[in-house]
Amino acid sequence: MVTIKELWPELEWISDTALREKTARTWELAMERSVLTPDNLQQIPFTLLAGPDLKVSFMDHKRAVVHIARECGLKFNEFFKDELPVNMDVLVAGAILADVGKLLEYELDKKGKCIQGKYGEYLRHPFSGVSLAEQCGVPPEVCHIIAAHAAEGGLVKRSVEAYIVHHTDFMTFLPFKERIR
Ligand SMILES: [Fe+2]
Repeated sequence: MVTIKELWPELEWISDTALREKTARTWELAMERSVLTPDNLQQIPFTLLAGPDLKVSFMDHKRAVVHIARECGLKFNEFFKDELPVNMDVLVAGAILADVGKLLEYELDKKGKCIQGKYGEYLRHPFSGVSLAEQCGVPPEVCHIIAAHAAEGGLVKRSVEAYIVHHTDFMTFLPFKERIR
């Protein structure tokens, strides 16, 4: 079976050892409570909203968000310097954890297809993600990114790291769903 560190080589980008371990532990806890396995994550499509032919896997999308968010953070620090400093550890940990709550949102139907379960209807993944992360000691500035990355986060004032993850997530999702062809 694939381990969390094999699933997420990007954990190595978090330089603070304690934060890296808390981030990894959150994914482990989510896997323990999920019906999905790491193998499922490398196979299922990343969204149920872009039609039946989508081949981009859950992990491919989640990892792409982390890579793109990291590049954005590096460019912010290069061009905006002290005007808009980006904490790279917070950014990378938040991007890795943004969708961890989805592991509790999904259930498998009788044919083994992924569907949103009752739990997920009541608590979408920004909420379940914060709950999992807090149980693992993840600090509030990272939990804020999980909480504010999706549409619900439009109602709160976002940190710069949360802005980057939010826009990275949406710009790598909306063109799959809505674009001019
Ligand atoms: Fe999300």
